Amino acid sequence: MNVTIVGTGYVGLSTGVCLAEIGHKVTCIDIDEKKINNLRQGISPIYEPGLEPMLVKNSKAGNLLFTTSHQEGLSEAEIIIIAVGTPQGSDGAADLFYLKQAATDISAHLNHDAIVVIKSTVPVGTNDHIKNVLENECSNNAKIEIVSNPEFLRQGSAVHDTMHADRIIIGSNNSEAAAKIAEMYRPLNVPIIITTLRSAEMIKYASNAFLATKISYINEIANLCEAVGANVEDVAKGMGMDKRIGEAFLYAGIGYGGSCFPKDVKALLHTANNNNVNFSLLKETITINEHQHELLVVKALNRFGDLNGKKIAMLGLSFKPETDDMREAPSIKIAALLTKLGSEVVAYDPVATNNAKKILGNTIKYAKSVNEAVLNTDALFIVTEWNEFKNLDLSCIINKMAKPIVYDGRNCLKEEMITACEAIEYYPIGKPAIIIK
Ligand SMILES: NC(=O)c1ccc[n+]([C@@H]2O[C@H](COP(=O)([O-])OP(=O)(O)OC[C@H]3O[C@@H](n4cnc5c(N)ncnc54)[C@H](O)[C@@H]3O)[C@@H](O)[C@H]2O)c1
Repeated sequence: MNVTIVGTGYVGLSTGVCLAEIGHKVTCIDIDEKKINNLRQGISPIYEPGLEPMLVKNSKAGNLLFTTSHQEGLSEAEIIIIAVGTPQGSDGAADLFYLKQAATDISAHLNHDAIVVIKSTVPVGTNDHIKNVLENECSNNAKIEIVSNPEFLRQGSAVHDTMHADRIIIGSNNSEAAAKIAEMYRPLNVPIIITTLRSAEMIKYASNAFLATKISYINEIANLCEAVGANVEDVAKGMGMDKRIGEAFLYAGIGYGGSCFPKDVKALLHTANNNNVNFSLLKETITINEHQHELLVVKALNRFGDLNGKKIAMLGLSFKPETDDMREAPSIKIAALLTKLGSEVVAYDPVATNNAKKILGNTIKYAKSVNEAVLNTDALFIVTEWNEFKNLDLSCIINKMAKPIVYDGRNCLKEEMITACEAIEYYPIGKPAIIIK
């Protein structure tokens, strides 16, 4: 099938590359010229394991094209997938500016019948609204059907998640359009659920808000574990083996971040408020998460009394491992708090430093290695659980620090590594500290 993607970001690019891989002819449009120029040369603008080789392979085979021209990109499209950003607006609602612009671009250039698929995460009712926009604005009498097809991929495993999704949700009020989109995905051999536009839109928000709530729940349990002397990892293991609960997303830490959970939880809350539904659980999910972002700083303040003049190494900047995405990363808030308290922060991340510099600028220092980051520091904060940090030579790292004090915000260091150190103060989340003097 001829598929055109409008918006070639994390979701659009991963989707486009994977659809080309399963045999479709895909054209990816983006308004960002630099991005498209890089993509034409086989350079992925994002760090995503496995994406670039697949991008190069399908570009060379002629199945995958990139353009900044909506006219060119839409000329042969049977299916148009919109994957533009829907960031958080100032009132917490999803900002639909890019989506509306994408709809206007499609209306202006589409001159044949097509199915428009909204993959961007959008509030309930948006697909209906965009259908109206397309029908009213499309000047060429093109017949357009609309399909909601929310995306569930995780950054850091986007290719795997697209090729092996748990399920594909297709929402449409037109059964032929739904069947055609199901056909497009058929080679993936993934369970497909066909539902209405509004239910599909809701499935996406309900899923993300549930996962975010699961994280806030285990984080509150972790805080309680610390207070009563229990170990959250044992508790989570014991809970997770209950099939009704499941073991995923029961990892205590410094809270969720990223381009989706924070904004999607707030957008769902906004929808609830607009519809006079008091979804107080979501309010708590958000509040708990905000406190959790501050937890390492609070723990360090309790330990040091005052962080003014302290030198802190921060390992990890991206919101999670295997991505260079800094959107809503807890590191941003932690760095801001530490610098506000007068600390000097030296950060290291395997891939996110360039993106971090765009946000944090020169408020902190950036190291090129773990060894460089920890040199003469008073404490080490582990903020992102990159494999590189899980496999640290901890004794060697500790020796380079002024004080052997480690705050593990992701519980990613193994107990054997810590107990092998001659002297250390190790403060995890939801587990007893290990102090060796
Ligand atoms: N990133 C994720 O992990 C993820 C997962 C599931 C769902 N989503 C949802 O998918 C959507 C896209 O997210 P993303 O992270 O890929 O965003 P992104 O910001 O990485 O990419 C969006 C792209 O759209 C382009 N764009 C904007 N307006 C355009 C237009 N009129 N024509 C062509 N291109 C245009 C931008 O230049 C950008 O490259 C959002 O709604 C998000 O909530 C994201």
